[in-house]
Amino acid sequence: MTLILTKNKKKYWEFIRVLRSNKSVEDGFIDKVQISKKEQEIYMNKYNDNYYVCLNEQIPCGYIGEINGDIRLCTSPEFQGIGVGTFMIKELTKIKKNIFAKIKVENISSIKAFEKAGYEKKYFLFEPKKN
Ligand SMILES: CC(C)(COP(=O)(O)OP(=O)(O)OC[C@H]1O[C@@H](n2cnc3c(N)ncnc32)[C@H](O)[C@@H]1OP(=O)(O)O)[C@@H](O)C(=O)NCCC(=O)NCCS
Repeated sequence: MTLILTKNKKKYWEFIRVLRSNKSVEDGFIDKVQISKKEQEIYMNKYNDNYYVCLNEQIPCGYIGEINGDIRLCTSPEFQGIGVGTFMIKELTKIKKNIFAKIKVENISSIKAFEKAGYEKKYFLFEPKKN
């Protein structure tokens, strides 16, 4: 496996949209969303440069980005558990300063990936309980 992190481009917008909307990754995210092609185009016209795509032998296998320092990250299900997430976090950390991740307490994969990339737990975020 040869991984590289490359700048986002229009040709990757659909890959990011489909992966972000994939049912099998939605539990990892704080917000569950289904993004339409039109919504993705509007969003990416604004935030294209905030995102990077991970390629394995030219094949996209994940994406990472940050909005106001807040990291957005996803690995394609078939590539999970083999170091792609950790790689993307390490690479983004070389490029961007003052970045952080808000992670659900039950998202063990994400917590592990950030810790392996050299991050540490610093704060608790409390919200009112939703029953
Ligand atoms: C969180 C996520 C990005 C991690 O990416 P990844 O490419 O799997 O990360 P890594 O391969 O670097 O693995 C990190 C750790 O999680 C573990 N892991 C990853 N997927 C796993 C799975 N499905 N089951 C159990 N452990 C898993 C890895 O084994 C590794 O732990 P280890 O060091 O003990 O082996 C990925 O699981 C994902 O996209 N999840 C859905 C979206 C999401 O949660 N995004 C993050 C929001 S903050």
